[in-house]
Amino acid sequence: MNAKTMRIAVFVLSFIWLVNGELLEADQDASVPEDWILVERVGPLEEVELTFALKQQNVNQMKELLKLVSDPDSHQYGKYLSLEEVAALVQPSQLTEKVVQNWLQSHGVKNCHTIVTRDFLQCVMTVQVAEALLPGAKFHRYRRGSHTLLRSTSLYSVHEDVYQHLDFVGGVHRFPPKGKDISKGWEGARQSALGYHLGVTPSVVRSRYNLTAKDVGTATNNSQAVAQFLEQYYHPADLAEFMSLFAGAFTHMSAVERVVGTQGGGKAGIEASLDVEYIMSSGANISTWVFTNPGRHETQEPFLQWMLLLSNMSAVPWVHTISYGDDEDSLSDAYMNRINTEFMKVGLRGISMLFASGDSGAGCRHLTKERNTFRPSFPASSPYVTMVGGTSFKNPFKLTYEVTDYISGGGFSNVFAMPDYQVGAVQAYLKSVQPLPPQTYFNITGRAYPDLAALSDNYWVVTNRVPIPWVSGTSASTPVVGGILSLINDQRFLKGLPSLGFINPRLYKLQGKGLYDVTEGCHLSCLDDKVEGKGFCASPSWDPVTGWGTPNYPALLKALMD
Ligand SMILES: *[C@@H]1O[C@H](CO)[C@@H](O)[C@H](O)[C@H]1NC(C)=O
Ligand SMILES: *[C@@H]1O[C@H](CO)[C@@H](O)[C@H](O)[C@H]1NC(C)=O
Ligand SMILES: *[C@@H]1O[C@H](CO)[C@@H](O)[C@H](O)[C@H]1NC(C)=O
Ligand SMILES: *[C@@H]1O[C@H](CO)[C@@H](O)[C@H](O)[C@H]1NC(C)=O
Ligand SMILES: *[C@@H]1O[C@H](CO)[C@@H](O)[C@H](O)[C@H]1NC(C)=O
Repeated sequence: MNAKTMRIAVFVLSFIWLVNGELLEADQDASVPEDWILVERVGPLEEVELTFALKQQNVNQMKELLKLVSDPDSHQYGKYLSLEEVAALVQPSQLTEKVVQNWLQSHGVKNCHTIVTRDFLQCVMTVQVAEALLPGAKFHRYRRGSHTLLRSTSLYSVHEDVYQHLDFVGGVHRFPPKGKDISKGWEGARQSALGYHLGVTPSVVRSRYNLTAKDVGTATNNSQAVAQFLEQYYHPADLAEFMSLFAGAFTHMSAVERVVGTQGGGKAGIEASLDVEYIMSSGANISTWVFTNPGRHETQEPFLQWMLLLSNMSAVPWVHTISYGDDEDSLSDAYMNRINTEFMKVGLRGISMLFASGDSGAGCRHLTKERNTFRPSFPASSPYVTMVGGTSFKNPFKLTYEVTDYISGGGFSNVFAMPDYQVGAVQAYLKSVQPLPPQTYFNITGRAYPDLAALSDNYWVVTNRVPIPWVSGTSASTPVVGGILSLINDQRFLKGLPSLGFINPRLYKLQGKGLYDVTEGCHLSCLDDKVEGKGFCASPSWDPVTGWGTPNYPALLKALMD
């Protein structure tokens, strides 16, 4: 039985359960990903922690406001809101709060915590109570490696009286996606003649993007962050060693300012080491935070937990870079729409969110034996965050111009419509590039990504005290771009200007100014007769492989200094 038929079977089963309840996320894929194994049915008195997403108010108003504060031609450009002001706008109505509270109380649920914006409620209860609250749910324990969590593979419903007051309940479905295999291992010959480099280091990144030794942070209140959710930890000793090996030529910090969440023990992850080492060497001398597996309980969705945390802290860094994504088709619309609103909340506060666009090119989803389609991922497909794709040097050993890295994630959403800010750029691409992949492979009306790119190939990383070469993926390009935006924020702060915030509307208005256009190469997709592994191809100006291209720091700074 494949996941889809399983999902339909589950759907039919849970309908029998319903008496006076309604399914909140009827389209959620509740099947178990193949890398997780079932351990046991959870006992009735064990505890679970659930997150209730309460319906917000003024979501459309917030959307309009975000357009204004991030449009450089608007009088309201840069007039960001504080967390408290965002809370006043979105917090649920008194009726919503009351109905949800009464519902929880009537089931004896007492141990709940809210957040500043009051639109999430996190509660601990026994499994017995959780299953009474959410008819249809049946909690089991699953394991992947040393990581265990509680989930239900049957859909849940809620009482019809609370249905209209909730978006979804977190902690029931959605397994954390698999960490990407980011080290490709390069087989090419190593060369050491003068003018050649043996892989990407901070000095290679800095010279390609025209950063001089003087281009480091100096503003006192600047900050940047990386976020990790997949059992990945960085070691302070690795970071210090990396900086002593590779950062001699510019002023930098060698320690993280603040860790939010729990750093597990054990070995460092390549991914975590990469993120922190590169954001701190492009955004050099800027105070850096690490958000890592926030939360206390095995039932949680760590990504969701991080979103809650951002809405519960009034001071958070200005730029966040994240390498995390899941197939759009594995998530419910209710969940994605709500996370999208959470991104708007962040943007309204003047915070920039950068996500890696993924490492599978256009992706591939098998619909039937003969029919395939590209597979967009989320949050990559959200119109309210900035997506970073990947490039390689034309000559892998020289500081040449950049071409597409064939793994660079890109494509068109099936859930989110194309936002206004990108319509011109995307239409121009669709009109000028021939041939395009067959129209059955992608949704021409959807949000297209990525927005820009940077090198994603052959990086050096220090992990578990050992320097490792040939680390690749868009999780490398994202912190590099994040650090560069932080440097621009820094210059803006020194001039008394606000942060860049949600940059997409401004980025698309630049029409490629301040960026190196990437025009060569295609990314990968379905290995079938129709497309033969080829997704989209790079072209002059914007394209769904490398966006507008890669940063040329002095030129980009100039374009963004007002
Ligand atoms: C949000 O922060 C407040 C104050 O620090 C805390 O009491 C509350 O438990 C937090 N909420 C969650 C869901 O962690
Ligand atoms: C590094 O940043 C600090 C502020 O955090 C600043 O005082 C110092 O001047 C910066 N160093 C350089 C070389 O700009
Ligand atoms: C410093 O930055 C934080 C956000 O990280 C902001 O809330 C605070 O107002 C800033 N302080 C000053 C003095 O600019
Ligand atoms: C295409 O995208 C739009 C959003 O732009 C969505 O409403 C529609 O359902 C999508 N079509 C398919 C076949 O997924
Ligand atoms: C950036 O560096 C390249 C190569 O070193 C150089 O040709 C170019 O003039 C520089 N651009 C700017 C805007 O400084």
